[in-house]
Amino acid sequence: MDDRLTDIEEVVAGMETADPGSERSGGRRVFVRTFGCQMNVYDSERMTEALSAQGYAATDTIENADLVILNTCHIREKAAEKVYSDLGRIRVLKEERAAAGSDTVVAVVGCVAQAEGAEIARRAPVVDLVVGPQSYHRLPELIVRSRAEGRALVETEFPEEEKFAHLPKRAPTRAVTAFLTVQEGCDKFCTFCVVPYTRGMEYSRSVADIEREARALVEAGVRELTLLGQNVNGYHGEGPNGRPHSLADLVRHLARMDGLERLRYTTSHPRDMSDDLIAAHADEPKLMPYLHLPFQAGSDRILAAMNRKHTAREYVDLVNRIKAARPDLALSTDVIVGFPGETDAEFEETLAVFSEVGFAAAYSFKYSPRPGTPAEKLSDQVPEEVKTERLARLETLVKRQQLDFSASCVGRTMPVLFERIGRRPGQLIGRSPFLQSVHAEAASELLGRIVPVEISSFGPNSLAGVIRPE
Ligand code: 5AD
Ligand code: SF4
Repeated sequence: MDDRLTDIEEVVAGMETADPGSERSGGRRVFVRTFGCQMNVYDSERMTEALSAQGYAATDTIENADLVILNTCHIREKAAEKVYSDLGRIRVLKEERAAAGSDTVVAVVGCVAQAEGAEIARRAPVVDLVVGPQSYHRLPELIVRSRAEGRALVETEFPEEEKFAHLPKRAPTRAVTAFLTVQEGCDKFCTFCVVPYTRGMEYSRSVADIEREARALVEAGVRELTLLGQNVNGYHGEGPNGRPHSLADLVRHLARMDGLERLRYTTSHPRDMSDDLIAAHADEPKLMPYLHLPFQAGSDRILAAMNRKHTAREYVDLVNRIKAARPDLALSTDVIVGFPGETDAEFEETLAVFSEVGFAAAYSFKYSPRPGTPAEKLSDQVPEEVKTERLARLETLVKRQQLDFSASCVGRTMPVLFERIGRRPGQLIGRSPFLQSVHAEAASELLGRIVPVEISSFGPNSLAGVIRPE
């Protein structure tokens, strides 16, 4: 991702199971808790599908689970700490279930598992399995082995075989939108970032493999796909002609699929925003006019220390070129405040980029030293209270820009893809092309359909509107 995928709030994955009968038939139950980015959400779905093929039904009540999976994120220290505090609570649950005669398997998977390996099982003996993000297709077999051997198992090698080839086909879904991982890993080595160490080197899935998965999702009713990759615009998978396909080629290829109405991709690195991808924004109507493009910092000195390989001016010029291709494009970004050595004046340069570009959304983070990364070793770490103060200033600006963007949507009629039932009777919730939630009075038959909606008002996190005749 560049920069990892957009960080999301932690999500409890209470997913539909492909085999709803197994819960009724007294089968085993799996609870998955997902931390971090969209790729972890995708991985949790694939894990749940693999386990469902083995008779596990998904549950969102942890107390009932025979298998508890924490799908973890290592990007910042806080994300990793949450895992250990969760494990403390899970230990109590596991003891209570054991007293009642039930066994509970506890698995830590994902990036904390990759980064900390056996240390997790040492620090938290409640853990039975530690499994890196490239090995979760082996979960079913590892569960059986750990029970048979009566000990914790750690699987954090980057396996030779490709996990995607060993996962079952996508299970039917009722969702209208879905994530699809097309690329993983990153060789950019930004000096603050753990991703190259936890997710490994860049790897792109083949077009045929992606197309197969996309088709299964579309046949199940999905209308919008978000192609995921840590550095998704560096995609270079094998094309149907045996030659490498760029992300632009992949987008054009998938856009030909009937029933698939919208495509997005995330997260991109400015250096890999090629001319053909920019052109795809101009001439591929299914590609949504919304782009997550992290810039991380506004000072060229800090950008160089981060090993970002672009300057602030190059970033702004790039944005202008993409907007020339797609004038209604809206942008979101990721920014870090308080990278080692960042002065007040350098922080002001980050604010200046915001003022110049104007973002529809942004994710801002205090720099968090990560073990094994070059920036962790820098001596001029910024004091916590300075980071806190800078983050607060930045977040005020981000909020204002987000509200300005929402306000600019009022009075516009935009195509909304309805994806779920709202809280109020007769209301549906959909997504605008710019990824905003839109509420409207709408018949439930419109679920899964794209409908013109005139935006009438906005709140802190959503828009409201009225359906207009097509
Ligand atoms: N400290 C703070 N933020 C970080 N990010 C990545 N590594 C760190 C770190 N060590 C942020 C970047 C990235 C986003 C997903 O997380 O902004 O784009
Ligand atoms: Fe993104 Fe840089 Fe991390 Fe790669 S190393 S995932 S480009 S922040």
